[in-house]
Amino acid sequence: MADAGRHPNITLHTMSEVTEVKGYVGNFSAKIIKRARYVDEKECTSCGDCVKACPVVFPDEFNVGLSSRKAIYIPFPQAVPSAYVINMNECMGRGCSKCLDVCEKKCIRFHMSDEEIIENVGSIVVATGLEPYDPREMDEYGYTRFENVVTSLEFERLVNAGGPTKGSVIRPKDRKRPDSVGFIQCVGSRSKRKGGEYCSNICCMNTIKSTLVLKEHYPDIDIKVFYIDIRAFGKGFEDLYNRSRSLGVQYIRGLPGSVEELPDGTMRVAVENTATGKIEFHDLGMLVLALGIKPSSGTQRLQEMLGLQLTPDGFYLEAHPKLLPVDAATRGIFFAGCAEGPKDIKESVTQGSAAAARAVRLMHKGAITSEAITSEIIEAHCKSCGKCAEVCPYNAITVDVKKKIPASVNTAACAGCGTCAAECKFGAIVMNHFTDEQIISQVDTMLEEDAKEKVLTFACNWCSYAGADYAGVSRLQYPANARIIRTMCSGRVDEKFIWHAFEKGAPIVLVSGCHIGDCHYIDANHWTEKRVNKVRKKMEKRGIRPERLQLEWISAAEGVRFAKVMTEMEELRKGVTAEEIEETVRILKQRKKAARKRVQKE
Ligand code: FES
Repeated sequence: MADAGRHPNITLHTMSEVTEVKGYVGNFSAKIIKRARYVDEKECTSCGDCVKACPVVFPDEFNVGLSSRKAIYIPFPQAVPSAYVINMNECMGRGCSKCLDVCEKKCIRFHMSDEEIIENVGSIVVATGLEPYDPREMDEYGYTRFENVVTSLEFERLVNAGGPTKGSVIRPKDRKRPDSVGFIQCVGSRSKRKGGEYCSNICCMNTIKSTLVLKEHYPDIDIKVFYIDIRAFGKGFEDLYNRSRSLGVQYIRGLPGSVEELPDGTMRVAVENTATGKIEFHDLGMLVLALGIKPSSGTQRLQEMLGLQLTPDGFYLEAHPKLLPVDAATRGIFFAGCAEGPKDIKESVTQGSAAAARAVRLMHKGAITSEAITSEIIEAHCKSCGKCAEVCPYNAITVDVKKKIPASVNTAACAGCGTCAAECKFGAIVMNHFTDEQIISQVDTMLEEDAKEKVLTFACNWCSYAGADYAGVSRLQYPANARIIRTMCSGRVDEKFIWHAFEKGAPIVLVSGCHIGDCHYIDANHWTEKRVNKVRKKMEKRGIRPERLQLEWISAAEGVRFAKVMTEMEELRKGVTAEEIEETVRILKQRKKAARKRVQKE
């Protein structure tokens, strides 16, 4: 942080909040509100005279309320810049002015106000961090009832030499050193009932580290760790775990069911030891809850601002878990640290470095190379209806509906999902590399011979097609009559491709894509779902069984599911008779003829 603060090419906006972001890769504009510090950070020498003079005392957030601070304070010891800040909600203001009187450098600025800053940037790294799980909802562990139950964060401050007790571990209730300490793992993690269902990644190793520090300070202390399983993966982690065990730390497999306080402040823990199958009671001087981690509270707001996607756990979703692990689906935006998922320090630093390198790589040329797969407008066909702009997940299309100015595509912002082309009723959009002609001719080729034996499948590049690939490399068996057409996103599957396939004699058409919420083009597959439902209704009206059009969400990791779905499709196909197919072809041809006549008349 200090290095970043000193770097000539880095501008740090501390105490600031991004309130609006506009633009696209290479050309973002961010509106920032910089909160007033009420202290001139350039003049302040952090002498501390103001703090001594300030009469107002409040709990210190950095020490999780275990110590106090004044209304004028430095938020934490390594803060950059190392200058004081006044919390105006706590300060008595001009009525007191004691800090103003004692500051020799005259740095106090009561008249300061929030500032609005606009920054134009080429790329954005989202590093919004994490929040610890709030253990108050897990009442069985007694955090709200017993003072000697503390969180791992509170314990971290207690055991830290720079913390409120200068590294002495004391029980909050009687300020005595405990002769035994218990750690409860997975508080707010891996639970279907409370907190997150995911593993928070850091808690096991953090607990192991705490046991080693405790044993170093107090070799005679008794330590017990209650766990589901210890996840000590990573370089050197297993060694630390073994060291902790060799120092006498007891690892008990099972999470406590209840915690009670005895009259002397000892915590009595009831646990089913799943290794022995017995109920055990353990008396401990102090209990530490190893908290899981959650996405930071501003995640959703920023997600809306930047057009990002979230995982079901609420973290940001990367563009691709293996190939683009630090990129967002929106070009020019990258993730670092726990914004994208729970991580320890090493992983966060690795990802931060990767995100910075990706951003620099994009920017250093001074110009953005746009993707080849982008959409293009045929102005002569465009009726300025605005549908394309409505469905574009990246706001890459502008159109003036009132003035009837045709649509135009910003190719730097277009990610190439093809939803606009699929939704345009007037054929005014060409999706480069996935044009209507290219896809129609693939349909023709695949249904050229024995069409009634085939299951025609449209699969999105990122999930379903990768799922098919996975099924293939896993040597999974599925019916050989599946014919797959790849599109970048299921959003590209135009209604006319489906009708064309039925007209060519396809018994079953399957549209498959990423699960809802997992689409690599933000929410483009919502349009797929709407479109498929619309086509099914039309099929019903036209006397064609809607079951012949299927929609399935298959992820890249679901090779088994892909094989299963294809087997189910084959069963459905067997239920479609030759007469039914012929009748469908007849209906569709007749409709086409009538439509052509109508157009000729017009
Ligand atoms: Fe798979 Fe959009 S990328 S459905």
